[in-house]
Amino acid sequence: MKKILITGVAGLIGSHLLDELLEMNYQVVGIDNLSFGKIENIKMHLENDRFTFHKVDILDLEMMGEIFNGVNIIVHLASVKKVCESASCMATLRVIGQGTYNILETAKRFGCKVVLASTSDVYGMSPNLPFNEKGDLLLGPSNIKRWGYGVAKLYSEQMAFAYYQDYYVPIVVLRYFGAFSPRSCTCWSGGHIPIFIDAILDDQEVVIHGDGKQTRSMCYVDDLINGTILAMENENAVGEVINIGSDEELSVLETAILIHQIADSGKELKLKFVPMNKVFGDYKEISRRRPDLSKAMNLLGYNPAVSLKDGLKKTIAGYKAHIQLLKADFSQLASTVYEADVNSEIEILQHLLKRQGVN
Ligand SMILES: NC(=O)c1ccc[n+]([C@@H]2O[C@H](COP(=O)([O-])OP(=O)(O)OC[C@H]3O[C@@H](n4cnc5c(N)ncnc54)[C@H](O)[C@@H]3O)[C@@H](O)[C@H]2O)c1
Repeated sequence: MKKILITGVAGLIGSHLLDELLEMNYQVVGIDNLSFGKIENIKMHLENDRFTFHKVDILDLEMMGEIFNGVNIIVHLASVKKVCESASCMATLRVIGQGTYNILETAKRFGCKVVLASTSDVYGMSPNLPFNEKGDLLLGPSNIKRWGYGVAKLYSEQMAFAYYQDYYVPIVVLRYFGAFSPRSCTCWSGGHIPIFIDAILDDQEVVIHGDGKQTRSMCYVDDLINGTILAMENENAVGEVINIGSDEELSVLETAILIHQIADSGKELKLKFVPMNKVFGDYKEISRRRPDLSKAMNLLGYNPAVSLKDGLKKTIAGYKAHIQLLKADFSQLASTVYEADVNSEIEILQHLLKRQGVN
């Protein structure tokens, strides 16, 4: 059985990929610096003798060295995702640029195949819908840092092809279209679905950027994992760029309404529309995103199986269960800390959030 190394194993896609690969009897090595990922996502596998975890930063080429010995395939997911207008772009550029260079250099040294996670963001504002892998890409100006993520991913794609052409490192580039699951984080980089679910379950305002008519094609994580494994195992995928995701397209506003219906909270949906330029400045929001999946279907036999509605149902159920767990833990913890004479609610909450892996 092949040995697979996942970078970014404690993140959303990495942890679900780990679940599936162990289920399929693969031997897996996972690395993550836990900057965004959570140990909670992988802790159920830490005792599994077919899995080894290393807390390593992919920027540290020396530390990575021997971990890759005997590895057949690297699935390179570690990344710092999109930046919002207020955040620096430096970590995104460094981790995707330098980090991918380190992974490819290590793959060359140890003779590994590399499956590289890229993104639909590289299509940018391309008017050619649905986005096809052969199509031209239309990115925005360099002084708008929101473009840094797509530019860095495109650079990493070019670098992967340079290693393929110049050093014969077998590579596959996967352009993922937005994924979600109950493990999605409810921060900026998790995308609009977890943020909306969180707001609706908590009876808060759902913040819509612009008029909410911009569309997205979001994919329940199981389909993305399935596509990744098909690409990883298929020798015909080497040297190819392949879209992976779902081609079901829904506007952001309609998504909020659908989540509200499924959540069935009994509360009114509260929408707050924020003008696009107040959120993004001069950045032009991408108005439509939809993949052409014919290459993945023909080359890999890929076929997304979970509808958006079913994916949302699973995710909302997961979030509800998590809230119940938080509440149960809270009351249990509250009595424990009461006995220990810690009487501030804030301290109780901090204990609880720490236990749940929330910083
Ligand atoms: N989730 C999506 O919708 C989506 C869409 C398009 C592309 N992608 C790409 O797929 C990959 C996985 O995405 P995800 O949603 O699981 O992201 P994630 O943020 O959940 O996981 C990324 C992981 O990388 C780790 N990491 C970050 N910097 C690191 C470093 N320097 N060294 C070691 N580990 C580091 C983080 O701690 C985290 O666990 C990323 O490359 C992302 O750009 C994801």
